[in-house]
Amino acid sequence: MLSRLSIALGAALLTFLTHSAFAILEDDLGALPQVDYDFIIIGGGTAGSVLANRLTENPRFNVLVIEAGPTNEGVLNSMIPANAFFLQGSQYDWNLTTVPQIGLKNRIERVPRGHLLGGSSSINGMFYTRGSAEDYDRWARVTGDPGWSWEELLPYIFKTEKWSVPSDHHNTTGEYNPDFHSIDGITSVSLTGVPQAADAKILQASAELGGEFAFDIDMNDGTPMGLGWLQSTIGNGTRSSAGASYLGPKYINRTNLHVLVNHRATRILESTVGNTTPVLRSVSFVKNNITIGRVHQLTASKEVLLCAGTYLSPHLLMLSGIGDTTELKNVGIRPLVDLPSVGKNLSDHPTFFTAWNLGINGTIDPQSNQTLQSEQLALWNTDRSGMLSSLGVNFLAWTRLPDDWFGWKTFSDPSSGRNSPHLEFVLVGGGLYPVPGPFMSMNPVLSNPHSRGTVSLRSNRPLDPPLIDLGMLTSEFDVLALREGVKTSQRFLAASAFADYKLTLAGPLGQARTDAEIDDAIRTMAGTGQHPTGTAAMSHVNATYGVVNPDLKVKQVSGLRVIDASVMPFIPVGHTQAAVYAIAERAADLIKASWPDDDEE
Ligand SMILES: Cc1cc2nc3c(=O)[nH]c(=O)nc-3n(C[C@H](O)[C@H](O)[C@H](O)COP(=O)(O)OP(=O)(O)OC[C@H]3O[C@@H](n4cnc5c(N)ncnc54)[C@H](O)[C@@H]3O)c2cc1C
Ligand SMILES: *[C@@H]1O[C@H](CO)[C@@H](O)[C@H](O)[C@H]1NC(C)=O
Ligand SMILES: *[C@@H]1O[C@H](CO)[C@@H](O)[C@H](O)[C@H]1NC(C)=O
Ligand SMILES: *[C@@H]1O[C@H](CO)[C@@H](O)[C@H](O)[C@H]1NC(C)=O
Ligand SMILES: *[C@@H]1O[C@H](CO)[C@@H](O)[C@H](O)[C@H]1NC(C)=O
Ligand SMILES: *[C@@H]1O[C@H](CO)[C@@H](O)[C@H](O)[C@H]1NC(C)=O
Ligand SMILES: *[C@@H]1O[C@H](CO)[C@@H](O)[C@H](O)[C@H]1NC(C)=O
Ligand SMILES: *[C@@H]1O[C@H](CO)[C@@H](O)[C@H](O)[C@H]1NC(C)=O
Ligand SMILES: *[C@@H]1O[C@H](CO)[C@@H](O)[C@H](O)[C@H]1NC(C)=O
Ligand SMILES: *[C@@H]1O[C@H](CO)[C@@H](O)[C@H](O)[C@H]1NC(C)=O
Repeated sequence: MLSRLSIALGAALLTFLTHSAFAILEDDLGALPQVDYDFIIIGGGTAGSVLANRLTENPRFNVLVIEAGPTNEGVLNSMIPANAFFLQGSQYDWNLTTVPQIGLKNRIERVPRGHLLGGSSSINGMFYTRGSAEDYDRWARVTGDPGWSWEELLPYIFKTEKWSVPSDHHNTTGEYNPDFHSIDGITSVSLTGVPQAADAKILQASAELGGEFAFDIDMNDGTPMGLGWLQSTIGNGTRSSAGASYLGPKYINRTNLHVLVNHRATRILESTVGNTTPVLRSVSFVKNNITIGRVHQLTASKEVLLCAGTYLSPHLLMLSGIGDTTELKNVGIRPLVDLPSVGKNLSDHPTFFTAWNLGINGTIDPQSNQTLQSEQLALWNTDRSGMLSSLGVNFLAWTRLPDDWFGWKTFSDPSSGRNSPHLEFVLVGGGLYPVPGPFMSMNPVLSNPHSRGTVSLRSNRPLDPPLIDLGMLTSEFDVLALREGVKTSQRFLAASAFADYKLTLAGPLGQARTDAEIDDAIRTMAGTGQHPTGTAAMSHVNATYGVVNPDLKVKQVSGLRVIDASVMPFIPVGHTQAAVYAIAERAADLIKASWPDDDEE
């Protein structure tokens, strides 16, 4: 053991000397040091970046990250918060699409996923919402591992979060509860630094209506109910992605961290053949943009950590023979172990955009004003402030369906408990103006849908994208609950606080009069909330379903864990990045505990 580690350390030192200690080896497989990698991480996304950082805290671990996309370094649209939308459909997006969605009038949905270091955290909306304490307690219950409870995960949540000042440096007293935040984590989190025209009216409406809309000082305290200020993964007016934070300048030069970008894993293979329990510690991969390139292979001495996300982790498992045996044979894959839950139970948050027209003069459309756009860019360049330092959302609201709701006659309550919301609302009230413009919106999001979808193989060719079926709105519950969401938003915007705005609902919902018409409009407009989870779900060690055990090791094989949004057994009510960070932080500790220092002899 001692000698192998000495060689590893020696090789690491050599890397230090020959590569100026700069660990990103863009495209250049040949330049990788010939060291014995203890861990190979597939996917340098949200979870993968956390693991790369935490595992290399131990100088004895050599870690290789294989990331399909390029580096996030210098990608301006991934730094400027307001420019997030430009990343969708770009080279930084996998451009995945769904099969026609029967619940959405057979529409094909685009499902963006990050294709660069930091993964989806480098292209996402930056909302930082942990969800409800009961969401995590349910994970602990179904997995039989109290380590997944809110109480035990909170320290890991704090390891992620570096609470920061907003981009306008305003006094944030009364806008959050410091007891639930940490200032010494890695990823920056802050309140918005861009006031919006409707802020005061939204707060006034909350005070006027109270009840379900009552002001909640901090939606990240474990009980997100009511209306409160949004927190975002933004620091110094700049996106704080997993790439920029966990793989930031402070860490990327570690000599035991090796990040190979623009290379795509194609299969996970048995490292030694013939064991009763298959040992999967080898990874085959190709240079990303070469269709018929060389297939490379590397073997980790300790573990392979699969972090390719909810669509692509199950895809790689199935390509590697792990999945439903019959389904694999149908596409010409030799099955290795029968785990029928791989790719099943896909769960996302359905949502749609609802615009309300303002019936008053004086509204300004910031998108169409070039002078304003250049002024704001100059401001951002100067001191990271101004409109570009935010995505343009200041408030979220969270509500429960009423106890006497008619849907309860037919459907069971999918929420994780009585202190957890069924619906979320995203409020947009226009930036920097005396009145919002050209519209206001209050978009409903369904926090715990009943519908489930699947990820499956299109073919046995690794570079073909998977078949993604979100199964969106295939349960009637989801439509009824969203209909209630439309009515909830109408109740809120009818507050006298908004009287001057003379709001009228625009778009398909504006025409809808009957419940049937509202449902029809919902099916016309709804789509992904960008939060797919559950396709490689954790379950109890003795469960007859599930993909990974509570320690995130893939069932029936050894040497392989899955660590990303796919392991969530139930979708949390929060936008999913906070939960992914928490999972990855805890996973790093679980892995470290599995490999106590082994050079002490
Ligand atoms: C457009 C958008 C908006 C969102 N908005 C929010 C939000 O506002 N707030 C929030 O909390 N959440 C949001 N989310 C969701 C959140 O970003 C994700 O849940 C989270 O980032 C997922 O982390 P992950 O580690 O599971 O996967 P990812 O971060 O997607 O990482 C997977 C990584 O694996 C790489 N990869 C995949 N296959 C391979 C392969 N074969 N070989 C090598 N590398 C591979 C990918 O390129 C990627 O870097 C949003 C997501 C998107 C896409
Ligand atoms: C990391 O290495 C690069 C390349 O050698 C160097 O330019 C950079 O300053 C280093 N960063 C830190 C924080 O040491
Ligand atoms: C392919 O990758 C190489 C670097 O390895 C890069 O120079 C080239 O521009 C890339 N081509 C495409 C089409 O992305
Ligand atoms: C996604 O599509 C856009 C537009 O066609 C393209 O430029 C980009 O390279 C694609 N992304 C990837 C990762 O291939
Ligand atoms: C911020 O506001 C609070 C309450 O209004 C006040 O007590 C506090 O002193 C202010 N902090 C600063 C730094 O001005
Ligand atoms: C914020 O960003 C600017 C521009 O890059 C930089 O000059 C400044 O030092 C940063 N401030 C902090 C507190 O990081
Ligand atoms: C889907 O999840 C539910 C709830 O945990 C579980 O009972 C069921 O067995 C899962 N289905 C599959 C195919 O894994
Ligand atoms: C808006 O301004 C126009 C032109 O001044 C005027 O005709 C119209 O009545 C105004 N509309 C409202 C709603 O005030
Ligand atoms: C565009 O923005 C500039 C700068 O804020 C402002 O002075 C101007 O009035 C705006 N123009 C229009 C047509 O709204
Ligand atoms: C799983 O089942 C085995 C065999 O029945 C039993 O010994 C073990 O205690 C069970 N594990 C848990 C965590 O319940």
